[in-house]
Amino acid sequence: MPFAATILTLYPEMFPGPLGTSLAGRALNEGRWTCDPVQIRDFATDKHRSVDDTPAGGGAGMVLRADVVAAAIDAVAGASESNASRPLLAMTPRGRPLTQARVRELAAGPGVTILCGRFEGFDERLFAARAVEEVSIGDYVLSGGEMAALVLLDACIRLLPGVMGAASSGDDESFESGLLEYPHYTRPYEWEGRTIPEVLRSGDHARIAAWRQHRAEVDTRSRRPDLWERHEDARVQSPSGARNEMEDD
Ligand code: ADE
Repeated sequence: MPFAATILTLYPEMFPGPLGTSLAGRALNEGRWTCDPVQIRDFATDKHRSVDDTPAGGGAGMVLRADVVAAAIDAVAGASESNASRPLLAMTPRGRPLTQARVRELAAGPGVTILCGRFEGFDERLFAARAVEEVSIGDYVLSGGEMAALVLLDACIRLLPGVMGAASSGDDESFESGLLEYPHYTRPYEWEGRTIPEVLRSGDHARIAAWRQHRAEVDTRSRRPDLWERHEDARVQSPSGARNEMEDD
């Protein structure tokens, strides 16, 4: 079964968007994943087809109505048993930060149904009523959830079997080990007076591996002290090099 992505949005024309090109586009054409955007407005019931209303308590902006969005969710879930079995995510800056560990879990599953908000967001009652997992892609505010959904899908799709081929099992890339990835170089050997580290030309695979591990550690420590701390904590708890904390959350 392909990885099935259903996206509930007011802008279905944004999908597959950039995911119709490159690696993800080829995977889509090969049937490794499916992309099914659904127009939330089709589930509005009044004559103006309204999907939003003013915030209770006052203030700027508009809020997506729980009844309209729930009708869209229920229609998607009711269409098939496999639809109902997929995690239901809502893209929102109030959500739990997306991690590579969660991406890996999602990519290993049957697919996702993703709610994309606009305006000030969703009526909060929706999340508890339909067991929605709120997801953020970072501490900044986008104009809607669509771009965030594209990011999440891209991260999942590249992990699907056959999508990246031999180029990478993903194993030693950034975050898979809890560390940033080591830096890369290619020809020419000298460029604008800068050279490639000698060890990478030595042909000594053990030395190269040790250098890469060292650089991953040094760079993580200086660039991402938050990641480094978690990596160190995990090492103290499981010095044998067992799965680290990032992979468990
Ligand atoms: N919608 C708006 N901003 C977002 C963010 N940072 N993450 C996920 N969804 C969003």
